[in-house]
Amino acid sequence: MSDTSNEFLGQNRVFSGVQPTGNLHLGNYLGAIKNFVKLQDNHDCIYCVVDMHAITVWQDPKELRENIREVTAAYLAAGINPENHIVFNQSQVKEHAELAWIFNCVARMGWLNRMTQFKEKAGKNRENASCGLFAYPNLMAADILAYRATHVPVGNDQKQHLELTRDIAQKFNNDYAANILEAGHGNSTYFPITEPLISEGNDARIMSLRDGSKKMSKSDPSDLSRIVMTDDSDTISKKIRKAKTDPDSLPSEVAGLEDRPEARNLVGIYAAVKECSPQDVLNEFGGKEFSAFKPALADIVVEGIAPINNELRKLMDAPDHIDAILKQGSEKARKIASKTLSEVKEIMGFIG
Ligand code: TYM
Repeated sequence: MSDTSNEFLGQNRVFSGVQPTGNLHLGNYLGAIKNFVKLQDNHDCIYCVVDMHAITVWQDPKELRENIREVTAAYLAAGINPENHIVFNQSQVKEHAELAWIFNCVARMGWLNRMTQFKEKAGKNRENASCGLFAYPNLMAADILAYRATHVPVGNDQKQHLELTRDIAQKFNNDYAANILEAGHGNSTYFPITEPLISEGNDARIMSLRDGSKKMSKSDPSDLSRIVMTDDSDTISKKIRKAKTDPDSLPSEVAGLEDRPEARNLVGIYAAVKECSPQDVLNEFGGKEFSAFKPALADIVVEGIAPINNELRKLMDAPDHIDAILKQGSEKARKIASKTLSEVKEIMGFIG
């Protein structure tokens, strides 16, 4: 992980979020949630189910409720501890929406126009995309900065959004520098310049099992393109067996994976689950056919995912328990976020 120390406020506060849009997959786990779990050991962590981001595209209300519980259950099943840290859903803490509005007035249209995720999601039908989808990164900045978080673990696809969060923090700090000082916030820096924590290995970007040039995604129309966290062992094995490959055997050096996106992805998944390097994987499987590699890959993915999967299913059978955790987490989160909002409003010249 790239971790540049951020001494802001003399603390390291981690914030991250996952959208409850269904089909939570191996990319979400290896690229993000697995790191969320590790960071708990030496950070103060806040993990959010970002349900207000989800509604930037249409969500069926019944499915949304289930999906909010599913992401929460995945957090808990993966090993996030809601007693020592904070686990909550965004819509229960109204300060996120309030700060997002303020950031709508700080961020520039030009900044948002450059966001590649908006372009990908809106596609050709830009005129019909929701305003929320366009302003999505401002809400993301609000999520992070409502807690003045210093570190944000994410997959590689969120890098641009985090750069925007830094720009918003910087502009706010500059625009209101005098007022920040006057309100007694020391060195005129109110918001920290957040550091992204992005894995350096292949797990930063897990690709589709059907097309090694596209990232594994919740919205891919093909179920075979992703392994979802609720897949049972047989389904995982089947999806890996059917994963697209090329006719050659595996190379013995990583350089040999260069023009072979599907092979590189499968080796990357193996390495990410096993927490070793792709070269380690090739030391073991170099020269072997996919017919030998795929069953070994299926075994380690099943081994890595099955315990989480079992726990997730158990938790999903106790929705009241999940809802209680979210409520308790939201109360803890709100204490922090409401303090930030009153300070921000004072800095900006609002009354009350
Ligand atoms: P979301 O819900 O799309 O994805 C959740 C996390 O999973 C990572 N990820 C991947 N990592 C590796 N390979 C993949 N194929 C892959 N697909 C997804 C994402 O990078 C992410 O870390 N905008 C965010 C949610 C968000 C957020 C925030 C994150 C809202 N507010 C504040 C951090 C801080 C998103 O859409 O994630």
